[in-house]
Amino acid sequence: MSVIIVGGTAGIGKELARHYAARGQKVVITGRDSIRATDVAAEVGAATGLGFDLADPSGIADALSVVTGPVDHLVLAAIDRDANTAAKYDLSAASYLVTLKLIGYTEVVHALAERMSPDGSILLFGGMARVRPYPGSTTVTTVNAGVIGMVRTLSVELAPIRVNSIHPGIVGDSPFWKGKPAAVLEAFRAGTLTGRLASMDEVVSAAAFLLEHRSINGVDLVVDGGWR
Ligand SMILES: NC(=O)c1ccc[n+]([C@@H]2O[C@H](COP(=O)([O-])OP(=O)(O)OC[C@H]3O[C@@H](n4cnc5c(N)ncnc54)[C@H](OP(=O)(O)O)[C@@H]3O)[C@@H](O)[C@H]2O)c1
Repeated sequence: MSVIIVGGTAGIGKELARHYAARGQKVVITGRDSIRATDVAAEVGAATGLGFDLADPSGIADALSVVTGPVDHLVLAAIDRDANTAAKYDLSAASYLVTLKLIGYTEVVHALAERMSPDGSILLFGGMARVRPYPGSTTVTTVNAGVIGMVRTLSVELAPIRVNSIHPGIVGDSPFWKGKPAAVLEAFRAGTLTGRLASMDEVVSAAAFLLEHRSINGVDLVVDGGWR
């Protein structure tokens, strides 16, 4: 089985790469920098590390030309958050993130579509900011909501290839949140019905379920412990 994880050099994508590499799967990971991606690939036991910038979509197909098919599972997990508001709108930060997550993700799918196995699957990462905006989340909320639209159209366009999305809540042990003030994490934890934040290994197991279950298609799965 072969698995490509775009945004596999850090955080949840890296954990997912480790998960599949440990099970003997052929894993390709990507990040912006090919040297860093190669180093992380060696660290997690992935076969290959590739470098390309999702925010520069014209270079994506070329960078992915080295990938040999069939690709069984394609994961799009990359993110580079901005802090933006409609009141003080930073056009270049917004353009960068919208290009990265919506156009860049779609261009990866376009570039690999013909190499996907017909019973393969695609998993797009969104997030709960799509329905729970916070100060500065204008672009993050917009792009994560856009992931829902991508699932709708891609699952129809690419059938029988399955396309799903996963929307974690705050992943407490992810590198992005780990160093944040305890009071911030505590406020998020208190808002969950489970009384605990989701963890990286829980998001990895939910991602593997969506990727591998042959009848799960067009699903937007929330992994947040229930949020009141
Ligand atoms: N962490 C959470 O609590 C949480 C919550 C909800 C949703 N999510 C979603 O889960 C996914 C993973 O989040 P994470 O926190 O684990 O991510 P992360 O640790 O911030 O890692 C981001 C990844 O994206 C890659 N990347 C960043 N900008 C890129 C660009 N312009 N082109 C190509 N690759 C780029 C990075 O690679 P390089 O740095 O090597 O370039 C890295 O591999 C994201 O889609 C995020 O929206 C996360």
